[in-house]
Amino acid sequence: MGEWHDAAAADAVVEDEVVGCVVAGKPVALFRVEGQVHALYDQCSHGYAKLSDGFVEDGCVECPLHQGLVDILTGEPRSAPITEGVRSFPAREVNGRVEVEIE
Ligand code: FES
Repeated sequence: MGEWHDAAAADAVVEDEVVGCVVAGKPVALFRVEGQVHALYDQCSHGYAKLSDGFVEDGCVECPLHQGLVDILTGEPRSAPITEGVRSFPAREVNGRVEVEIE
């Protein structure tokens, strides 16, 4: 089990956008899909690009470097050239803040 860490104001994390932040020393990308907050490790598994610089579309984030797609809910790759998953972290909303669980 990890620890929950404060990440961002909940109202800064909105549908169809991505927020990059650092949580417990790790780069994290925050998303909101159908009202729920989600968190991924903020680096593409294909190269050194930040997913928080990408575009959100249909439940995926598109990497800004080679346009590979990653599923926001699972971190699984959804299109080439990404073949490996991106780490996903549990995320929740508490008192108007987004928290992310990281060990
Ligand atoms: Fe993300 Fe290549 S670095 S698709």
